[in-house]
Amino acid sequence: MIEDTPTDDDAVATGADETTLDPWGSSTVDDYRSLFAEFGIESFDEVLPEVPDPHYLMRRGVIFGHRDYRRVAQAMRDGDPFAVLSGFMPTGDPHIGHKLVFDEIIWHQEQGGDAYALIADLEAHSARGLSWAEIDEHARDYLLSLLALGFDPEEGDLYRQSTNRELQDLAFELGSNARFAEFESIYGFDGETSVSHMQSVVTQIADILYPQLAEPKPTVVPVGPDQDPHMRLARDVAARTRFFKTSEAYASVEFDGDERPLVADAYANRDEYADDPETPRCVEAAAWLKSAYGQTGARDRAVTKLENAGKEPLRPRTRFFARQATDEAFAALVEAVEGDKRVYDGHVDAFDLSLDEADDLAQRVEMETGGFGFVAPSSLYHRFMTGLTGGKMSSSVPASHISLLDDPEDGYDKVKSAATGGRDTAAEQRELGGKADECPVYELYAYLLAGDDDEFATEVYDECVGGERLCGDCKKQAATLMREFLKDHQEKRAEVKDLLADLDMDVETERTGDGLVPAEE
Ligand code: TRP
Ligand code: SF4
Repeated sequence: MIEDTPTDDDAVATGADETTLDPWGSSTVDDYRSLFAEFGIESFDEVLPEVPDPHYLMRRGVIFGHRDYRRVAQAMRDGDPFAVLSGFMPTGDPHIGHKLVFDEIIWHQEQGGDAYALIADLEAHSARGLSWAEIDEHARDYLLSLLALGFDPEEGDLYRQSTNRELQDLAFELGSNARFAEFESIYGFDGETSVSHMQSVVTQIADILYPQLAEPKPTVVPVGPDQDPHMRLARDVAARTRFFKTSEAYASVEFDGDERPLVADAYANRDEYADDPETPRCVEAAAWLKSAYGQTGARDRAVTKLENAGKEPLRPRTRFFARQATDEAFAALVEAVEGDKRVYDGHVDAFDLSLDEADDLAQRVEMETGGFGFVAPSSLYHRFMTGLTGGKMSSSVPASHISLLDDPEDGYDKVKSAATGGRDTAAEQRELGGKADECPVYELYAYLLAGDDDEFATEVYDECVGGERLCGDCKKQAATLMREFLKDHQEKRAEVKDLLADLDMDVETERTGDGLVPAEE
């Protein structure tokens, strides 16, 4: 397990340690826990026990965060359909940081998920200004590495954004639910941002929902935390396409999220105050709330609503609001609700349906009346790898990363000259132990070289911090493993060349437009 660097909790709570997540900038994250408080990313540790046979990147805390992964874990446990998708901007060679994502896609595929990997060529062209020839060359390299690591192209789907017509149609539809004002606030886009760059964002939102085009299903998108803004937007846009919104309700009047628990409590305690506990009246509940709860804004609002409802009985129900629904879709829903129901203008209350049943029904009717029925997409976030030279791992600094195409001997040399968390002298190291938590070489073991072997990773860690391991030998061992990994990976790449040729995906494009992308800002 990779330890978090200790931080002052107050600093986190007040956001003093601000992190920006910029998909096209240079995101570094000093404190991963701040992402929980600031952006609402959830800690992965909490879902880990729900994941059957978790991947080593999950077990070792490399995957540190998620959004809504529970529903994916549940589908995995129940043998229900689910999907995994991620995308790659072909701006350079695939490197060991991309390998994390390749492995995550492949692992979910092995667990039974429908797997998708895409080449974000529109994004590379519009946001990074790459020529089509460069894009084609890099796209090939990404795909070869993905296949070499074990992606099964017969079971999974590979595509590039530019030639996927269905994807473009989906992007167009979803664009109707995205506003420029959001692009401004989420990405800092302004009057200078090119329309093509904006189109590439809508395309990524479509990528994220693409696995659900045939049939809605839980879908996980493994990415670095810099991509979280796209996830948030995709989740919002997906919600906006939904025809109906369901909620728990207690009377004809609608209570908001703060008021609802109070009213639920009043209903639960009806025996205490109701003349006839079979039909507790709203006014009676109002009086009880006033005595049982201290004064708060939510309590006062709930009380007022209940008083206005007067003698109406308080009665739990599931409510469907028609949001995007046409009259026809709403009529179909009303028709489909079984048991006792009451129809209002724009919403219908069902008295014999649980919230889960209501959600299923809403989705089914939506799909039968021309909607997508999207499930909110889930995500997984992995830590950025530290550069071998100590700072950020960057594609533009060759010594900082190891490309999957690096000559194995160069890979060996890069590891040999990497920065470490070692002490100044061997004597000091023996006495104090190394700082494995701050060591890029230890990261190589944990993220890649130890593979599935937790015992080995732990041994390296314990020996390092215990002072038994010295950096020279440690690096030599890591360098040797790296050389073997690269050699083996490159042999596999050669073997899967034919697979790539068999794919029905255009790896070569003939497009006009190089040099037309202006530099932004
Ligand atoms: N924007 C991503 C990157 O910069 C690439 C990408 C495009 C992507 N579409 C995606 C990632 C969908 C995840 C899901 O690398
Ligand atoms: Fe890093 Fe190995 Fe040195 Fe420990 S012994 S600090 S893991 S290089």
